[in-house]
Amino acid sequence: MVSLSSEHPGNRVGCAVCAVACSRLCGIVHIGPVGKDRGMSQTTVPMYENYIGGRWIRSTSGRVCENRNPANHDDVIGMFPDSTVEDACAAIESARNAFDAWRLTPAPKRAEILFRAAQLIVERKEAFAREMTREMGKVLEETRGDVQEAIDMTYFMAAEGRRMYGQTVPSELPDKFAMSIRQPLGVCSIITPWNFPMAIPSWKIVPALVCGNTVVFKPSELTPLSALNFVRVLEEAGLPHGVLNMVTGGPEIGELLTTQKDVSVVSFTGSTTVGRAVNQNAAPYFKKVHLEMGGKNCIIVMDDANLKLVLEGALWGGFGTTGQRCTAASRIIVHEAVHETFVNEFVPRVRALRVGDGLDPQTMVGPSVSQKQLHKVMSYVAIGQQEGATLACGGRQLTAGRYAKGFFHEPTVFIDVQPSMRIAREEIFGPVVSIIKTRSLDEAIAIGNDVPYGLSASIYTQDINRAFRAMRELYTGVFYVNAPTIGAEVHLPFGGTKATGNGHREAGTAALDVFSEWKSVYVDFSGRLQRAQIDNN
Ligand code: UN1
Repeated sequence: MVSLSSEHPGNRVGCAVCAVACSRLCGIVHIGPVGKDRGMSQTTVPMYENYIGGRWIRSTSGRVCENRNPANHDDVIGMFPDSTVEDACAAIESARNAFDAWRLTPAPKRAEILFRAAQLIVERKEAFAREMTREMGKVLEETRGDVQEAIDMTYFMAAEGRRMYGQTVPSELPDKFAMSIRQPLGVCSIITPWNFPMAIPSWKIVPALVCGNTVVFKPSELTPLSALNFVRVLEEAGLPHGVLNMVTGGPEIGELLTTQKDVSVVSFTGSTTVGRAVNQNAAPYFKKVHLEMGGKNCIIVMDDANLKLVLEGALWGGFGTTGQRCTAASRIIVHEAVHETFVNEFVPRVRALRVGDGLDPQTMVGPSVSQKQLHKVMSYVAIGQQEGATLACGGRQLTAGRYAKGFFHEPTVFIDVQPSMRIAREEIFGPVVSIIKTRSLDEAIAIGNDVPYGLSASIYTQDINRAFRAMRELYTGVFYVNAPTIGAEVHLPFGGTKATGNGHREAGTAALDVFSEWKSVYVDFSGRLQRAQIDNN
């Protein structure tokens, strides 16, 4: 067994048996003054539950994980179950039991529930966005975008309920009909990260459901509230009991979700290290595994580029979501003819980015999601300096005043970066951008490709020939011309090459390929035996 050690563990706290049990259907238990604090006034911290078989229930462990605001440690958002393997088994069992009825429900009917869910998310968009900013830190404008992405995906997949096209092809034999249909696979384990806490779950859960599968969902320990909000709207929209189950917790349940015999599909987004473990865990059981992992994306800036556009794009691509996107533009490969001008214009703009709490409308860059993530950023800043890159701006943790209670770091730019340096090859997932000088398009393409990952790349140029050459030659799953490396829309395939993915794509109709398998169907109405390849001459 390969350990699915958590990349971003939440803060475990002790047993919550003293909680006053007033469980409501919404999955919240309110903790009142209890135990030795009985009678004392105390702030109410919501306690949330797992969703298994259509019921909101506590973990059999009795343990909970705290969910705290990364911009303000004092702000406790809630307590979430630190689930056990038994909880995850119960979730898988309920998904397995619900599968037959769900797969036999006509796809357009399944889709009607998804439509209703999308409408509910529209109504609650602002509240969901605020809760998301509070639990993972990115600025409100971006969490609105995250929720919007979940809305878009849910509408898109709901519409697939009336399509899910197969093929009809002519048969080589007379009086014979040939077609292919999509079939669901069964129970899908969905394991998601914290950086797109509602969008990424939606990319996996809604295509799984519209195809007729049932789901066990394990969100990141750092963003369980946004996950729960998404599950709750699907419940309210009328999803039958057991079709979608959610368990929160750590790596042990992730391990079970990738190995348990009744799981047919595992869809995972997260780091390449954990993705590899997921793949290894699932391989002996021949589960279908979809992996969406790291990135080290580049923007190529040619000497004819519109510099104003480049500056805006590089700022957004590099520092949007505090650099915590797998599509983040962490490398900017700039033609030597415009390198100096670009650096001189870019660095002051980066210095001017206002860091702070994502709920503050003035904030442009939020905190890192956790202390562990912040330390990773800081360690790469040290590595870059040791490697001989020049710190053009940033490079320090922010701790004074309004930063004292959060995981804040200055937006950071390295220049004089060599493509062989670790800061130019490894995924940092933070507000750190490396600028690399290049002499030509060919060299830029070679540098762009010379990393272990292949998610997204972009070029800024006015020359259509260069744009198309770069588009063909950069070995990535997503490519942009005159736009940064982030901003994929839900109706095209999303995913990457090399260590970014394992050949599958999510979003668009490509997602249906992950969550269904083809059955080819031949109907012979000739009334006699017709042998393919033999009786057709
Ligand atoms: C991710 O960072 O894991 O294209 C996903 C984008 C977003 C999705 C990012 N729509 O940047």
